[in-house]
Amino acid sequence: MKYDFDHVTDRRNTDSLKWGKIEYMFGGEDVLPMWVADMDFPVARPIAEALRKRMEHEIYGYAFPDSSVIEAVIDRMQREYGWKIEPEWVVFTPGVIPALHAAVKAFAYPGDEAIVQEPVYYPFFPAIRNNGCHVANNQLKLINGRYEIDFDDLKGKFNPKVAMRPPRSRARMMILCSPHNPVGRVWTREELTRIGEIVLSNDAIMVSDEIHCELLFKGSKHTPFASISKEFEQRSVICMAPSKTFNLAGLHASSIIIPSARLRDRFNEAKDGIMPSVNIFGLTALEAAYRYGDEWLTQLLNYLQGNLEFLMQYFKERIPKIKAVSPEGTYLVWLDCRELGLAPMNLRATMREKARVGLDDGFLFGSSGDGFQRISIACPRSILEEALKRIEKAANDIEVRK
Ligand SMILES: Cc1ncc(COP(=O)(O)O)c(C=O)c1O
Repeated sequence: MKYDFDHVTDRRNTDSLKWGKIEYMFGGEDVLPMWVADMDFPVARPIAEALRKRMEHEIYGYAFPDSSVIEAVIDRMQREYGWKIEPEWVVFTPGVIPALHAAVKAFAYPGDEAIVQEPVYYPFFPAIRNNGCHVANNQLKLINGRYEIDFDDLKGKFNPKVAMRPPRSRARMMILCSPHNPVGRVWTREELTRIGEIVLSNDAIMVSDEIHCELLFKGSKHTPFASISKEFEQRSVICMAPSKTFNLAGLHASSIIIPSARLRDRFNEAKDGIMPSVNIFGLTALEAAYRYGDEWLTQLLNYLQGNLEFLMQYFKERIPKIKAVSPEGTYLVWLDCRELGLAPMNLRATMREKARVGLDDGFLFGSSGDGFQRISIACPRSILEEALKRIEKAANDIEVRK
């Protein structure tokens, strides 16, 4: 069937974080929310139908994934990436972020470091710090409009830190964002291989957040980190979920793939008791999405590609002082607003109070995000166009005032 992504669905009064908290977050009901990563599109018809059917059963006790749910994950990995995984490798959690917290608790000691690549999805920071660990930043470099990895710096980040007394703190793990939010890179197999070799040679663990893995723009290909080699597999925790791809974030079901039994045991121990079981509707939706969601997904990706091209053109022609970093994946665009010459809090005020758009402030993603904003393009084109018009006017007003 043909889906209509241009259709505007009213999401107010639906308990939506994005549309229900506008006044509280941005100081006015007329602000267009373009920040959080959820889409203003209804889900694929087979998902809605599966949920309706499950709802009609009318018993909603604790969930436990049937083998058919696990098979749906296994089949997806095989079909999308040629990656053969075993049923016992899959651990279900009510989200990727809770899984990251559990992974840090499981694989690092308080005082250790966990390596991330800033600017990066900001919930990574509390996942590390709330477990008594420190963030080590392998800063991404913006080179000719594209973010690149500094591999020498990454190697250095694994060196033990000199401490007054033992034990010396060290980086025991890396949390990779792959594809990367907010800079939109889809890491190549070669880049992932180089990262993996560094991680392995330092006897560390890779926690790879691959939640955006199926949101790819033309020409991009995702490689699950662990699929590269058996050695990588044994040192990996791969965080997957249909929640971004199929717009199911509120249903809380993710699959965390941990091939090593030893790592899996430690992960399960760290999460048990503090993490609720996965959501029963989430499991229904996950299975339906993975098995029957592709017709919708193909049309969605086509629509997002159109939105991206529209946005890139708009900034180039009408707001040249803001440079949009063209993403290879995700539906988030990282906007370099540094030429506007505004301090971070003034940039925030300009977007919220003048443009009346609710974006994510770049500084949330680490200090290298100062002067940047992140915008979601997962909305009908008419809403995106309205947001861009508002940003254009606010940016032009700055020029007039100067
Ligand atoms: C990179 C990344 N990881 C995780 C999440 C959220 O994961 P969850 O809702 O499953 O906790 C997001 C949401 O935007 C994200 O961008």
